[in-house]
Amino acid sequence: MAYSDKVIDHYNNPRNMGSFDKSDENVGTGIVGAPECGDVMKLQLKINDDGIIEEAKFKTFGCGSAIASSSLATEWVKGKTIDEALKIKNTDIVQELNLPPVKIHCSVLAEDAIKGAIQDYQDKKSR
Ligand code: FES
Ligand code: FES
Repeated sequence: MAYSDKVIDHYNNPRNMGSFDKSDENVGTGIVGAPECGDVMKLQLKINDDGIIEEAKFKTFGCGSAIASSSLATEWVKGKTIDEALKIKNTDIVQELNLPPVKIHCSVLAEDAIKGAIQDYQDKKSR
């Protein structure tokens, strides 16, 4: 199975790799694992008080498609509102990266990680 050019580009030049301080009250952290393969993705969002995602970072221990999916996700969420970010679907990622069926769960990780990060942020704010 061949990786698409876009996957290879994100894999070679990952956007926004790294992490934020988890305890920052404007940072939401989502960590998800894929039962299919054991890969793990961490995605963090820095959200300002107007609910705009200002920055995003990821760390992914996994396959090329998971790395590309998380790299793409950090690009897509930047500048979006929380509601807009929640609308990002794994199928959008599949389409953009041209992922084959066996790699669809890699994109699901990215969607779930975005949702997990937003949930974590909202939990912090409601405390
Ligand atoms: Fe090998 Fe994900 S299955 S890295
Ligand atoms: Fe499991 Fe990509 S995340 S193969």
